[in-house]
Amino acid sequence: MKAIAVRPGRPNSVHLADLPKPRVEDVPGGRGVLVRVLKVGVDATDREINDALYGNAPPGFDFLVLGHESFGIVEAIGPAVRHVRPGDYVTCTVRRPGTSIYDRIGRSDITSEEIYYERGINLLHGFLTEYYVDDAEFVVKMPVGLKHLHVLAEPMSCAAKAVQQAFEAQRRLQVWDPKLAFVTGAGQIGLLSTLILRLRGLEVFTFARGAAPCLKSEIVSALGATYVSTKEKSLRDIVAAAGKPDLIIEATGSSAVAFESMEILGHNGVEVWTSITGGQRRVEVPSDNVNINWVLGNKLLLGSVNANRRHFEIGISDLALGEVTYPGVIERILTNPVSGITNFNEMMRLLVEDKDALKVYVDVAEG
Ligand code: BGC
Ligand code: ZN
Repeated sequence: MKAIAVRPGRPNSVHLADLPKPRVEDVPGGRGVLVRVLKVGVDATDREINDALYGNAPPGFDFLVLGHESFGIVEAIGPAVRHVRPGDYVTCTVRRPGTSIYDRIGRSDITSEEIYYERGINLLHGFLTEYYVDDAEFVVKMPVGLKHLHVLAEPMSCAAKAVQQAFEAQRRLQVWDPKLAFVTGAGQIGLLSTLILRLRGLEVFTFARGAAPCLKSEIVSALGATYVSTKEKSLRDIVAAAGKPDLIIEATGSSAVAFESMEILGHNGVEVWTSITGGQRRVEVPSDNVNINWVLGNKLLLGSVNANRRHFEIGISDLALGEVTYPGVIERILTNPVSGITNFNEMMRLLVEDKDALKVYVDVAEG
């Protein structure tokens, strides 16, 4: 069967690979789920892997099959599988457990080990192929009514984790009741975080470079949040008008913005960093000022990566709530379908060159 792969360490090596079709029996204990892949989304992580800035091939292979944002239909299950059946729509978690205590309690998303195993990213083949098989533990059912949001389940799980971790951590304050949030970045994580925070009743300002009106500003407005183009207004301008935020979700992909945003968080606030910055950038920061304000304001900075099964479930519930609250808005994120696995060059071209392509995904098969 065909797959889209790269040779990690070699820039721009995206190519078509050939692999045997997996079988349910490949997973021990009767827990295998065989999935026919329907759609796979790609994001900045795939771009960085193809740029040879990130990612590793599985042991014994000189290539890595890409794709970690999966959507498919169950074709067959092992005898021990209960929660999904053939014909169900599913997505799949990305990270697989190592051996730390966190991995052993089902929290590989917070593994304490330096080496992590992620399908389509690090040391494990991904889902950009015609079929995959995995342990039932990692396969997450998608309600049929969310079929049209398909590949957003995985990025949504990352946004759901980021927000959930912020609320979890803020239990330190006993009575935290956030009213105002800033989201920096309006890529998929920024937009989905905006959605989640609106569903939680916060006033949200979402910052991105592009001048409004544009697709991002339209989606932000349709979610009842305020879009701010940083070409026109700065974080400080909005602080002057609306006050300092209780919560910041940082999702620009820029470490410079991540540090800059630290200067405007409100007292007792929490900031979550989600950007994976593969480069070597350095910036000058007003360190005394940030330091004293963080100490005197009891502020918290949190990093958040990946998502476990529970975050997928929260994310899928929020997609459902989002659909009934803001009908037809979320699907506007899904801008650029690519037809078929053999169109891998077009997939990369859109991902790298098309600045208006908010979400690129491959239509692998009908279903
Ligand atoms: C993926 C996460 C992953 C992270 C780091 C992101 O693009 O969505 O699942 O943990 O990259 O590799
Ligand atoms: Zn991703």
